Amino acid sequence: MPAMAEAFNDKVLPTDKAQRYAAVAQEIAAVLGGEPNTVARMATVAAMLAASFDHFFWTGFYLVDPDKREELVVGPYQGTLGCLRIAFGQGVCGAAARTRQTQVVDDVNAFPGHIACDSRSVSEIVVPVVDRQGRLIAVFDVDSETPAAFDGVDVEWLEGILQDTFAD
Ligand code: SME
Repeated sequence: MPAMAEAFNDKVLPTDKAQRYAAVAQEIAAVLGGEPNTVARMATVAAMLAASFDHFFWTGFYLVDPDKREELVVGPYQGTLGCLRIAFGQGVCGAAARTRQTQVVDDVNAFPGHIACDSRSVSEIVVPVVDRQGRLIAVFDVDSETPAAFDGVDVEWLEGILQDTFAD
């Protein structure tokens, strides 16, 4: 295994959530330095975040399909089998794509039109991903088996990591 990946996989991360995000954000930037490929960047972000938080049950990207009108198609992820396609406006991912606003849902069963790819997921956060030109390219979805697993700390750090990785 290349030294950088091995070093990350063996790392003991801080227990405080914000400190853990700060450490992982730094590692993501170091691993991705100089890598321009979007799929490689997305796969790395999903793998490193999923490996850093035990309660991240499903962690990954739905990409804006350039060949369809307002439709997301599954991209790089870590977790159980995800749904392949989600229309803009449908479920939590579709709401994030349509509104371009981060969605935090404490109880997915109370969210109108929620798409249950895996019934073990009970709470989630979905962050819109934009490129340097401000175009929506994807949404980043994290689902948890823990109710109300996500708060303002997750919003701040996930938005920051995605901005730094895809828009800067
Ligand atoms: N939870 C998402 C669907 C995608 S998966 O759960 C992997 C939603 O309602 O948008």
